[in-house]
Amino acid sequence: MKLIGPFTQILLLTGLSLKGALKDEQLQIIPQGGVLVEDGLIVAVDDFDKLRAANPSAPIEEIVGHHVLLPGFVDCHTHICFAGSRAKDYALRTAGKTYLEIAKAGGGIWDSVTQTRAVDESTLTDLLLKRVERHLAEGVTTIEVKSGYGLSIDGELKQLKAIKAAADKTHANLVSTCLAAHILPKDFNGTHQEYLNHILQNLLPVIKQQRLANRVDIFIEESAFNTSDALNYLAKAKQLGFEVTVHADQFTTGGSEVAIKARAVSADHLEASTDREISMLAKSDTVAVTLPGASLGLGMAYAPARKLLDAGTCLAIASDWNPGSAPMGDLLMQAAVMGAAEKLCAAEVFAGLTFRAASALKLNDRGILTKGKLADMQAYPYDDYREILYHQGKLKPDKVWTAGI
Ligand code: NIG
Ligand code: FE
Repeated sequence: MKLIGPFTQILLLTGLSLKGALKDEQLQIIPQGGVLVEDGLIVAVDDFDKLRAANPSAPIEEIVGHHVLLPGFVDCHTHICFAGSRAKDYALRTAGKTYLEIAKAGGGIWDSVTQTRAVDESTLTDLLLKRVERHLAEGVTTIEVKSGYGLSIDGELKQLKAIKAAADKTHANLVSTCLAAHILPKDFNGTHQEYLNHILQNLLPVIKQQRLANRVDIFIEESAFNTSDALNYLAKAKQLGFEVTVHADQFTTGGSEVAIKARAVSADHLEASTDREISMLAKSDTVAVTLPGASLGLGMAYAPARKLLDAGTCLAIASDWNPGSAPMGDLLMQAAVMGAAEKLCAAEVFAGLTFRAASALKLNDRGILTKGKLADMQAYPYDDYREILYHQGKLKPDKVWTAGI
């Protein structure tokens, strides 16, 4: 048992609904608070002096100076298991070429596949770990990581094994997802449907058996997979025991409807979603994941986050950190900037970065600070939680805990 504190403010993020719009007045804040931790879990969050008096033998991890404590962030959508760079694509885009034009000309995702295939598993693990440690230092304590730059049985397995190896070497919690259905690989001799069947028959059972992932993702887009192939693929992946998630409505609509029909845990991107998709998502249990980093990286509009919340969706915010469309990877900065543009209040941004994002990963043991939850936390050197988004991502936590350490 250990008592951590005192914190000027503790933002609990308890008592907030899983879906729909929120108000900052609903935020529960404990002034001069402390957190009692045992075996990685929160035992109590309360007034610091009260906790100290009630637990006189608990050692104290003293926090000096003003600090705001909040739950660690959950980044529920990344592609940080890659090698190489796509700075060339970025330069072409800012010079006027579109993401899809670059992809058609041989750049894009396929370029990262080539660069990622060229390195061995341990090099890939090291590259991934560097990004994981940077994210962790910036308060992101749970990180989803997708494959999708292997696009062959061996290439995908290498990525998923690198994610597993990295998970054993970091304090951050990694959640892996198989994105073998990212695009049709150029060296596959067959149709999109044949490729998906090949993955279903020869890759997903191995992933299950080796416990390398329990989530499957697909990119539904003109340049990737169509809605009917995707629906069939997701249904079969579910039969094999996987949770499913979808890259949906990034440039054209169709993906979110598939996600809802397939009862996917989340539909991610949604930049192109119209009122029709927004109202379908609001009626479903599928989490709407916005990826402002991709909008910033591509110079495109944000997903309609305000409308999604007002319609009643569960809205999460993730980084999409990847070498192509979202190379920056600064989750807090992206969330703060989208929040300003889309008029999201602090409660909505922090919910989207914590317990709502955790629900997209089906993790209900984290994302709020209350008894029984994981002691994954971060402290910012200020006296008022509003400073965090006000600094638009430049203010970083100076202390991050995973499981209380
Ligand atoms: O989420 N949209 C598809 N996949 C990624 C981009 C991956 C890449 O460009 O390498 C995304 O934006
Ligand atoms: Fe993505």
